[in-house]
Formats: sequence, C-alpha cells, structure tokens
Amino acid sequence: MSDIAAAAHRAAPAADGTLVAQPVDDTGHSPAPAPEPAVRLESATLAFGDRILWRELNLSVERGEFIAVLGPNGSGKTSLLRVLLGQLALSSGTARIAGAPPRAGHPDIGYIPQQRTIDAGVQLRGTDLVGLGVDGHRWGLGLRGRAERRRKVAAAIADVGAERFAKAPLESMSGGEQQRLRVAQALIGDPAVLLCDEPLLSLDLASQQLVSGLIDARRHRHGTSVLFVTHEINPILPLVDRVLYLVGGKFRIGTPDEVMTSEVLSELYQTEVDVLRVRGRLVVVGTGDTMDALGTAGAHCHGEPGTPHAGDPSAELTQRSGRANE
Ligand SMILES: Nc1ncnc2c1ncn2[C@@H]1O[C@H](COP(=O)(O)OP(=O)(O)OP(=O)(O)O)[C@@H](O)[C@H]1O
Ligand SMILES: [Mg+2]
Repeated sequence: MSDIAAAAHRAAPAADGTLVAQPVDDTGHSPAPAPEPAVRLESATLAFGDRILWRELNLSVERGEFIAVLGPNGSGKTSLLRVLLGQLALSSGTARIAGAPPRAGHPDIGYIPQQRTIDAGVQLRGTDLVGLGVDGHRWGLGLRGRAERRRKVAAAIADVGAERFAKAPLESMSGGEQQRLRVAQALIGDPAVLLCDEPLLSLDLASQQLVSGLIDARRHRHGTSVLFVTHEINPILPLVDRVLYLVGGKFRIGTPDEVMTSEVLSELYQTEVDVLRVRGRLVVVGTGDTMDALGTAGAHCHGEPGTPHAGDPSAELTQRSGRANE
C-alpha cells in the first residue's frame, strides 16, 4: 500500500478479532457505513416438504429500485413476499428488511395483496379500506389523533385520484377503482418497501397505466423500493430496473435485457422458449404455463393481448445475477 493509501486507512477489528485496514476521511474519521439495502436475501431457500420453490436466492434491493418478479403459477412469487412480510420462515438462508429480520406489521413495508374480490354484503367503504393502512399507535385515539388520521386518509385518497368514489361501498366499485384504493392503503404508512402482488390483474390498459404510474411516482419521490409481482411485464417494462424470474426451483436476476431472452428462458423452463420483441414489447412463446393458455397459440403475453413480456437467463446468467447482487 502506498503512503497516501496507508494514510487513508486505519486498523479496525474484524468480526474474527483480527485487525483490518478501514478507510478514513480527511478528518481521520471512518465514513458512515453504507446503508443497508432495503431488502436483502442471502442464500435464501424456501421449500414445502420435498418441494423446493427457490434455492440459494441472493437478492439485494436498493432504495428506489423497481424489481419485477415473474414466473409461472406456483413458482413461489407470493411466498417470496410472505417471507418478507414475516409470515413465512425461510427453510435456510437469511432475509433482511433494512438490515433487520422481517416481522409481521413492519411499519416500513406497504403491501398490495394478490387481488381478491370483495364479498357482496361487506359494507366497507373505500375510506375505511384506506384507513386500515394507518398505524393506529402513531396518532393515538384522541380527538387530535382522529383528525390527523382523517387528514392522512384524505391525502392518500387524493394522491391516487379516488376522491370521487372513495366514500362508496367497495362492492359497488370497479376493479380499477378498488385497486386505486388498495394502492392508497399500501402507501399511507409511508413505506420504505412496497410489495405488490399482481396489482394489475383484471385492470384495463388505462387503469394498469394509472396504478403502475402511481407506484413509479412514489419510488421516484420517496425512494420507495418496489417488488412488483406480475404476469404482465409490458405495462411496467419502462419502469423495471431488474427482473427476478422464478421457475421450477430455479431463478435468474438481471435487467430485462439480460433476463428476457430466448436463451435464458429456454434454460429456465428447460424447453424451447422464444422471446420476441415487437414494437418495444415482449412476447414470450412456449413457456407452457398459464399465460400460454390465456394467450394466443402459446404466446405468453405481458400487457394487452397479443403483446410481449420479459423472461429469464441461462446458467451463465445465474453467475452474472449472483454478482449483480453482491
Ligand atoms: N404454507 C404452505 N404450505 C404448503 N405449500 C404452500 C404453502 N404456501 C404456498 N404453498 C405452495 O407453494 C407453491 C407456490 O405458491 P405461491 O402462492 O407462492 O405461488 P405464486 O408464484 O404466487 O403463484 P400464482 O402465480 O398462482 O399466484 C404453491 O404450489 C402453493 O400451493
Ligand atoms: Mg401468487
């Protein structure tokens, strides 16, 4: 090490007790440690009995990063979110949210669950649904607390442009209207991490754009990290930083260009898969999963019918993905 380099380091104890060189700044102080990633999975494996959903998953999600989570039905996308929500324990490996183990009710996490239809007869208004996302302890139950809660709910509803219908019963709303309110509910707690489970399901193109635009605006304005589970990558393709693609116990992580290729998807699905790029959209043909059944002639469409989507990588890409997350 040169004198200059030596001057910029000092000995510090490592975890095993040995001394290692640690960088210092001009004033002789060590710079603050790099912030923990919003989400970190290390060698994470999830299995139910003999069935391994994913094995040795390494993923580090940075502040404001937008990750699309793709994969056929049953590949473990929802289960991944449930691990991060503290609802499911990993079989091995570690999961961290901002450096701490996941736990139920974590205030840093906003969650849009996989859509369920609202049961007829449930007399819940849109404002009630959004209010469920408020942490009750934060404002207390006094008059001031109630006023603050009301203000917060009104602001969250305004943010998603739902003022016009928010006071109506949920069961009377369209799927797109309900979904806007679910987004408001997930964002009201000012989350650092937003977990979205197929939030575009059954929405028309305009509503898809609206909902994904709201989420994108949130991460740009507040640095919220987004894990976005979807079968339809095209509506969010311009927003996606990286793709996590889960198939049959294997996975690939990388940019859409790295993962959504014929080579990578063929390797993941262990069958010949073609990824076509048509007018800036992705069409995946030959995965044999549900999307094939829904699309035309085996086309795996992400976006409107007849449009394309993103895929996954080969063995070589697994290596690259691992490094990308270090
Ligand atoms: N608690 C559990 N015990 C046993 N098996 C489970 C449990 N939770 C999920 N599974 C199984 O794990 C698999 C993955 O489920 P998961 O809901 O994560 O899939 P998914 O990728 O979200 O699928 P989809 O696209 O259909 O929503 C499924 O076969 C499911 O039945
Ligand atoms: Mg699911």
